[in-house]
Amino acid sequence: MEISEIKNLFFQETKEAQDVKALENIRIKYLGRRDGLLTKVLRSLKDLPIEEKKRVGPAANGLRQEIEERLGLRLKELTKESSRISGIDLTMPGKKVKFGHLHPLTLIENRIKEIFLGMNFSVVEGPEIETEHYNFDALNIPENHPARDMWDTFWLKLTNDQQPITNNSREPLVVSRELLRTHTSPMQIRYMEKRQPPFQIIVPGRVFRFEATDASHEINFHQVEGLMIGEDVNLANFKYVIEQFFHRLFSPHVQIRFRPSYFPFVEPGLEVDIKLTDNKQQTTNDSHKPLAAGNKSEWLEVMGAGMVHPKVLGGVGYNPKYVQGFAFGLGLERLAMIKYKIPDIRLFYSGDLRFINQF
Ligand code: PHE
Repeated sequence: MEISEIKNLFFQETKEAQDVKALENIRIKYLGRRDGLLTKVLRSLKDLPIEEKKRVGPAANGLRQEIEERLGLRLKELTKESSRISGIDLTMPGKKVKFGHLHPLTLIENRIKEIFLGMNFSVVEGPEIETEHYNFDALNIPENHPARDMWDTFWLKLTNDQQPITNNSREPLVVSRELLRTHTSPMQIRYMEKRQPPFQIIVPGRVFRFEATDASHEINFHQVEGLMIGEDVNLANFKYVIEQFFHRLFSPHVQIRFRPSYFPFVEPGLEVDIKLTDNKQQTTNDSHKPLAAGNKSEWLEVMGAGMVHPKVLGGVGYNPKYVQGFAFGLGLERLAMIKYKIPDIRLFYSGDLRFINQF
């Protein structure tokens, strides 16, 4: 085929090509490495007599350049056209895909579960709507006991069929009033009623307090209850478990302090404080610098605890002569605030993405 023929044919076909695929076929037809029409001409150059070579050579090479340029231009036209038809602009920069992430409270709850599972505790959960019986009475907090003031309670209205009825006999039917649980401790009772020791459990969950909110108080927050009962489970065991827990949650550079305290369902009762210290400063024996919120080194109260009261054990049918154990309740928000240096508990529920997206 003559060069000029090839050229005419090529331009004709290229003009008619409707899509990128057709254009690619044209490129192969003319420039394909094996059977391209122009490729064959170029390949045959070396066998031509010198005069012919001088004539055909430059023309063929010139045409190759023209073809390549034309193909490039037509390709641009076709891609523009196809993106216009489909409404997609292929030259737009891609959109970044945003992944979700866990809420800081979920993060710390997961970590706490992991640590306790590692010490052979089981994780159980209980209802958020509780009865007065489980939330108070069974925990040795009878009505009119001054300790009820420790928990400001959201009471739920009784529905009609729950109204305490006074029938003709002199006794009113006793109905346990319902409330939003003020702590996770009622689950101690529910669990012990169904199981025989030995066992060790934790109970993460939401709790509610009817109180004014401020930087460290919310009407709902989360606790993790702990309960370990056996023949001779004692406070030394509690101390070991809690030290292990805090060392794993923070670092070995946490100081732990146990203080006597009072809760009606434990005897003795205690409170646990922690103080975080900067490990660098500790090794150089400087004054300890806190990692927690606030600038001065301070003790922070993180949990209530104690040996389960014999009355509570007796109430669920255990014999306190043969079994005993410890219970504790820690505040999840409190620990998250210390771990992540969060200054205000209300941020957790604010839904403010500037806060949430930091985790
Ligand atoms: N339930 C107590 C509170 O909410 C904490 C606690 C749990 C104390 C278990 C002792 C034992 O304050």
